[in-house]
This record gives sequence, structure tokens and C-alpha cells, in this order.
Amino acid sequence: MTNTTNDTARRNDTTVFRLGGDLPVRRIGYGSMRLADGPGDPTGPEARIWTGPADRAAAVRLLRTAAEAGVNLFDTADAYALGAGEELLAEALRPYGDEVAVATKVGVVRPSPTEWVPLGHPAYLRQQAELSLRRLRTEQIDLLYLHRLDENVPVAEQLGALKRLQEEGKVRHIGLSEVTVEQLTEAERTAPVAAVQNLYNLASREHEAVLDHTAGRGIAFVPFFPIAMGGHAGPDGPVARVARAVGATPSQTALAWLLHRAPHVLPIPGTSSERHLRENLGALGVRLDEAQFAELAAG
Ligand SMILES: NC(=O)c1ccc[n+]([C@@H]2O[C@H](COP(=O)([O-])OP(=O)(O)OC[C@H]3O[C@@H](n4cnc5c(N)ncnc54)[C@H](OP(=O)(O)O)[C@@H]3O)[C@@H](O)[C@H]2O)c1
Repeated sequence: MTNTTNDTARRNDTTVFRLGGDLPVRRIGYGSMRLADGPGDPTGPEARIWTGPADRAAAVRLLRTAAEAGVNLFDTADAYALGAGEELLAEALRPYGDEVAVATKVGVVRPSPTEWVPLGHPAYLRQQAELSLRRLRTEQIDLLYLHRLDENVPVAEQLGALKRLQEEGKVRHIGLSEVTVEQLTEAERTAPVAAVQNLYNLASREHEAVLDHTAGRGIAFVPFFPIAMGGHAGPDGPVARVARAVGATPSQTALAWLLHRAPHVLPIPGTSSERHLRENLGALGVRLDEAQFAELAAG
């Protein structure tokens, strides 16, 4: 195919979103946070994401399997195991070069395994972005999120630091995490925002307004904890019913619901299992009709 034909095919492909208008990524990415859990660390909500991968070789294998299977948006943060999460991605994804995009985050400091403290001083954000560049072994971060807004620092100063990095070519696109429409609007007065990463899934829909606001504005909505289903799960629940009807697994159905919700939604499920990884990617091929979408949404 010629480049033009390739571009047209990508534009018509509902499994692809153009991040920031110029970076095509598949609409199921990979969230690598839990790979940064250490040996014997608690899992689930108690996870500390503090010491680095329990089995580094297995983590590298899984990330490469993800890239081979077509994942081209990987998510991490400087706060995951104090930078070890970024180092892991750099090592694992080195063979894939520009074929994969890496999103990282700055702006949360980890004074201990149980604390995640927003810190938005512009000098700190710059330092952390420089450290992320080194750990990711790149000259440009594809997508740099402000992990949390720091309420003690003016929004314009925090976004100003990221914008300066963008102007210097060190950051391609800027993102925000866990923001409201008002905070996003204020941030956009200083810098263009390409993605918002907020908690959103079948069971947690506090950010409907942000999802709707970003739709049609070219801003990706990246739901984290995408597979959680809360009360929608269970053998006779709506997820199980729709999953049976479409011939998919419950996790695929939860992801398909997010993909159906709007074309700018890019879930980043995390997993330590190759079987789950392939299952999650399979959600790109699951089609819901409007009645099934509504049944899932109603719960
Ligand atoms: N911006 C923020 O503040 C923020 C906060 C939290 C997370 N995040 C990002 O969001 C990403 C996703 O979050 P997450 O990894 O915590 O949650 P998640 O993707 O919703 O779920 C991960 C959990 O679900 C399991 N799982 C995954 N696929 C499955 C499947 N097909 N069937 C059954 N279980 C499955 C995993 O276990 P197995 O390992 O056994 O598959 C793991 O326990 C993170 O990696 C991180 O990049 C961002």
C-alpha cells in the first residue's frame, strides 16, 4: 500500500485513534503500573507499586508480546516504583523504536510506599521530565501527563512547565489525569491537551461530563481501571448476559462497552498474564448493538 492508502485505511479504522491529531494508536493500550509491583507485594487495591518488577524477565516478555500483538500505546509514570516502571518499558520496548508510543506522567511524589502526593512546582516537573527522558532512553516523550494537579500551585504554572518542554521538543503531547471539565478548560488556556486519563469503567462513571466534553475536541479519553465492573458482574448480571449474547468474555464485554461509548475512548487495561492480554485485545473485535450497550450501562 502507498502511504496515502495507509493513511486513508487508518482514518476509517474504528480501532485506531489519532492521539493529538498526529499519532495513530490502537484503541486498546497497555497499562504497565502493576508490572512495577515488587516480589511479595500485595496486589489489588493494596498494591504499592514501589519496588520494581517481581519477575523482570517475565515482565519484559509480556511487554514484547503486547507489542508483537499490536499494542502501540504503553502507559507508565515516574511514580511507579520510583522510575523502575519507566526503565522496564525502555528495556522491553527498545526493539520496537518509533513503532510504539509511551505515555508517562510526572507531578506525584512518593515519600513512602503508601503515599502518592501531588507536587506541581514547575522546577520539579521539569526535573522529573528530564529524568523520564533519561529512563525511557528517548529524546522526546510521546505523551506526558500531569499525574495530578497540585492545588497549591497555579494551574498556569504547572501547564506552563509542560508547554515549555513541548516547545523545546522534549514532549510531543500533553495530558492530564483525574481532572474535571473546569480544570481541563483552565489548563487549555495555557497549553493544548491531547489526552485526559481519568478513572472510568462500568461501575465508576463520575467522569461522564469529562468524557462528553473531550469527545469531538480531538482529546483522547483514557479510562483507567477499565475492567472493573462492580455490581455489573456476577453470573446473572448484565455483563454476563451480554457476554453470552455476543460470544465474548466478561472482560472483553466491559472493554467493548468502553470502546462503544465514544471513538475517542482508549482503555489501557493492565495485566500480568499473556492470556488476559490477548483476551483484552480481542475486545477490539467485539461489536455491541445499542440495546446491549444500554443494558450494560443500566446495570
Ligand atoms: N492516572 C492514574 O492516576 C492511574 C491510576 C491507576 C492506574 N492507572 C493506569 O491504568 C492502568 C490500568 O489500571 P490497572 O492495571 O490497575 O487496572 P485494570 O487494568 O482495570 O485491571 C488490572 C487487574 O485486572 C486483571 N485483569 C486484566 N485483564 C483481565 C482479564 N482479561 N480477565 C480477568 N482479569 C483481568 C489483572 O490481573 P492479571 O494480572 O491476573 O491479568 C489486574 O488484577 C495502569 O496500569 C496504569 O497505567 C492510572
